[in-house]
Amino acid sequence: MSRNKVTVIGAGNVGATTAQRIAEAGLADVVLVDIVEGLPQGKGLDLAEAAPVVGHDARIVGTNDYADTAGSDIVVVTSGLARQPGMSRDDLLAKNAGIVRAVVEQAARHSPDAILIIVTNPLDAMCHVALQASGFPRERVLGMAGVLDSARFRTFIAQELGVSVEDTHAFVLGGHGDTMVPLSRYSTVAGVPITELLPPDRVKALEERTANGGAEVIALLKTGSAFYAPAASAFEMVESILLDRKRVLPCTVLLQGEFKTEGLFVGVPVVLGARGMERIFEIELTADEQAAFDRSVAAVRELVGKLPT
Ligand code: APR
Repeated sequence: MSRNKVTVIGAGNVGATTAQRIAEAGLADVVLVDIVEGLPQGKGLDLAEAAPVVGHDARIVGTNDYADTAGSDIVVVTSGLARQPGMSRDDLLAKNAGIVRAVVEQAARHSPDAILIIVTNPLDAMCHVALQASGFPRERVLGMAGVLDSARFRTFIAQELGVSVEDTHAFVLGGHGDTMVPLSRYSTVAGVPITELLPPDRVKALEERTANGGAEVIALLKTGSAFYAPAASAFEMVESILLDRKRVLPCTVLLQGEFKTEGLFVGVPVVLGARGMERIFEIELTADEQAAFDRSVAAVRELVGKLPT
């Protein structure tokens, strides 16, 4: 039996760290792709040379040529630019849309049956670009945001209550932006909702820190954005698909009527298995939660409306 094959596009911080996690778990052979010559080859070689020490036999190579990605089971897209000084959010949107369109077209041609996991920001809009550029069905175009946002929420819950992160669960829905919706009623410690464990003002503080989680890391790093937690989150999605675990994870998927939303990529809980998004897990929202979700949806719709056609 041969190993699965995963392509990671973008050999920067998030891409290289994702490649490392996949290879070191022995989960799949990894092809690391970047537009910069030498960068993916160098990181690929370095990672391959770590294998004897770490103790895995996954093959890992870097390349600038999409022919090497042929037959991938999963393609993780992290390529893009970070926002530069003087660049507006809309400039970033247009630039990264161009990059994501180009890389997805090439990757999809070489791996027509692959499942795409999009990581490049602005995430929700980039998923739309990837869906169009690949022509894949919605089950095979997924965005990584909810796992990361929920992981941040879980970290803060565990720290606040002095409990193991392992016993925390959290759901964060909506767009991957300031309007994301941390669902505290469904966020639990050993099954007990945090709304029963913490006073409302502390719950609100944790929700706000979660929504601001990416910016908090950027403010500290100054020269880049988070990558350890994003890479771990992308890895969790890859693992659930390749091992057909059917994990229930919040992912960004194209809604077609679910959660009262039509034709838009938004974060919701889904069942992730060998076929990609196998089911959307529709949960009951209170009127307040649905209103917050609708606000988030409106923000995503506005951003998607600004995509260059
Ligand atoms: N094809 C392939 N790779 C590209 C292309 C392209 N057309 N354009 C840019 N890249 C590569 C860059 O050369 C760089 O190596 O994408 C990589 C991006 O890496 P970083 O700048 O280190 O960014 P990173 O921190 O990894 O974030 C990547 O993930 O979480 C999101 O917001 C983040 O959109 C960003 C993405």
